[in-house]
Amino acid sequence: MNRINLYKQKDFGPLPGKSSKMLKDEWKNIGRNELCPCGSGRKYKKCCLKKESHAPIDYKAHYKQKYDINLKSPEEIEKIKKAGRLVLFGLEQAESMLAPGVTTDAVNRLVHKIADKHGAVCAPLNYRGFPKSVCTSVNEVICHGIPGEYALKGGDIINVDITYILDGYYADASKTFYIGDPSPDARRIVSVTAASLLAAMEMIKPGNTVGDIGWAIQNYAESQGCSVVREFVGHGLGKNFHEPPQVPHFGKKGHGVTLVPGMVFTVEPMINLGGAELFIADDGWTAITRDRKLSAQFEQTFHVTEDGWESLTPYDLHPFIG
Ligand code: MF3
Ligand code: CO
Ligand code: CO
Repeated sequence: MNRINLYKQKDFGPLPGKSSKMLKDEWKNIGRNELCPCGSGRKYKKCCLKKESHAPIDYKAHYKQKYDINLKSPEEIEKIKKAGRLVLFGLEQAESMLAPGVTTDAVNRLVHKIADKHGAVCAPLNYRGFPKSVCTSVNEVICHGIPGEYALKGGDIINVDITYILDGYYADASKTFYIGDPSPDARRIVSVTAASLLAAMEMIKPGNTVGDIGWAIQNYAESQGCSVVREFVGHGLGKNFHEPPQVPHFGKKGHGVTLVPGMVFTVEPMINLGGAELFIADDGWTAITRDRKLSAQFEQTFHVTEDGWESLTPYDLHPFIG
């Protein structure tokens, strides 16, 4: 996930949920001096602003020039999906080796071996200096845990976050697993986090906004007495690890970029049992809850379709709930 301050997201306020109205309102957001959304390459004031009825918006050109969002073609979606299948395989293999006494470095070796065998690249390795091939975040570690000599013990929870690059395209997903028998606290934070991602998925459809997604997560997690991490957010991806838009896991209904078909982004809520505050360990990566209480995360890569969403790293969240 990105640091949220890498680039600032513009906020155009509420937009209605119906796609017919969405077109109309998107035109209201266009400044006179912006490139015309019809794709003519001319300024809005010299093009459709003067016309009685607007041409259809060329969303691919418009989202690129206005938000730097790369809408994906069906061929690109297929490639991300293929990378996604390998990510899911990696998560399954990791799960099957998890047990008391297993080190996080053993998980790292397995994830890396799978990449080698299938002609994929582990995106985390050397990403901005990250030293390993996967993130393994145990208990109070929120995210970006670095695999090492730590041996898992019964009662731990561990998030395994895998990103593979296959044929030039990224897919990114994570799950939080129990080691041995979970404590009531472990069950609660894993369950609330998984359910918060399900709540987010209900919001993914054209005409809704990234703010609707964040709102759904925050509303659910806080209703359960848990808190939402602010410093790391979901992100667009495709030919790059992290692209616009940012997808905060908190927010206001109707705020932020409007979802349109062809958008691909992760949703990856990090939810804390205690407070939302964190600190970064001396290794420069490991994000830890300030109160040292448990944190969990689930992540999938989603594709916005004509009438909703498709997960490009699909797995069932229900087994993690309850
Ligand atoms: N996979 C993480 C995400 O969901 C990013 C990890 S970056 C790394 O965006 F450098 F820590 F690997
Ligand atoms: Co991600
Ligand atoms: Co990830």
